[in-house]
Amino acid sequence: MIPLSVPNLAGNEWLYIKDCLDTNWVSATGSYVDKFERLIAEYTNTKYAVAVSSGTTALHISLLLAGVEQNDLVITNNLTFVATANAIKYLKADPILMDITPDSWQIDTELLANFLGLECEMKNGFCFHKASKKRIKALLPVHVLGNMAEMNELIILSEKYNLTIVEDAAECLGSLYKQKHADNWGKMATLSFNGNKIITTGGGGMILTNDEVLAKKAKHLTTQAKASTFDYYHDDLGYNYRLVNILAAMGVAQVEQLPLFVQRKQEISQRYNEKLTQIEGVKIQKINADVVSNCWQYVALFPDKLNLIKHLQTQKIEIRPLWIPINKLPIFVNDLYVSEQNNSGKISELGLMLPCSTSITNHEIDAVINSIFTFYQT
Ligand SMILES: Cc1ncc(COP(=O)(O)O)c(C=O)c1O
Repeated sequence: MIPLSVPNLAGNEWLYIKDCLDTNWVSATGSYVDKFERLIAEYTNTKYAVAVSSGTTALHISLLLAGVEQNDLVITNNLTFVATANAIKYLKADPILMDITPDSWQIDTELLANFLGLECEMKNGFCFHKASKKRIKALLPVHVLGNMAEMNELIILSEKYNLTIVEDAAECLGSLYKQKHADNWGKMATLSFNGNKIITTGGGGMILTNDEVLAKKAKHLTTQAKASTFDYYHDDLGYNYRLVNILAAMGVAQVEQLPLFVQRKQEISQRYNEKLTQIEGVKIQKINADVVSNCWQYVALFPDKLNLIKHLQTQKIEIRPLWIPINKLPIFVNDLYVSEQNNSGKISELGLMLPCSTSITNHEIDAVINSIFTFYQT
């Protein structure tokens, strides 16, 4: 079996986790939490990083800190992992599901500009969706599959319409836009360290920001809003969203290997791209100008996808279809989907994730490629 995406734990993971066990620092505080936060902040060139229990909880707290309230609207991508849209619902707000471009698969900034210009209006300094009369408080662009959204355009729109930008950067740690990482752009950005991400802590996440007040609030809210280290005085509705020391230790070992992981992911992607683009009808993701992608998860668009899936499964090659668009999921069917061409639907229909663990060998990649060639030749 060639697996889709498995963690690469070849570094100091055992050593650092053993250190936690040996010293009893296994829980919510400890030196590895601080170190992990510092290393990620340094790597992304962001002032503050707050470690949390998952990418989903990072999104929840970031949107809360962006001021999203009940009945507000938040604009996000229609083709993403469900956690992005779920986090909006946790706040009893609703998403406006924006379609993506047909080539980069990122939020369509032209469509967004038209929507804001024609279907929204400014009142008392806030942007309102005319039809629903609801306030649009935030913009939550997802950097899909390691490619990055056109942040320049999004920043211009966010300033014009007073929308707070939270970047869902779960998939793009190591990617660059105009030589800068995510969060040097929006107000906050969120990372995920789920098992399939470019680095993993098993489960975990991070909130990135350059704003000290927001960073302190994020730490406070994700650690039970404890106002004192001694007695049990909690001054806000807090959450137990901490990343424990034992997982942060794993994170430190993973960050040490991150540059190598990014390099290997890029090599894998290039190897697939060179061969798969020779097959008629197969399309690959176009990386936006100014972006260096971390090539987190390899996805291409394949005609006759369902039969290709069956074929690859018989060859013991693990593959997954790309996500179902958010507007097709029961929780979101009544939310507004803004689209002209339904690119999300079309890309979802053809998109297939191929094996791309950093530990995959070139021989295994070639086996996947050959198997795909065989399918289209017969
Ligand atoms: C775009 C995106 N957002 C959010 C998440 C949620 O992160 P987590 O699984 O760590 O909660 C993921 C992946 O898991 C993701 O790919």
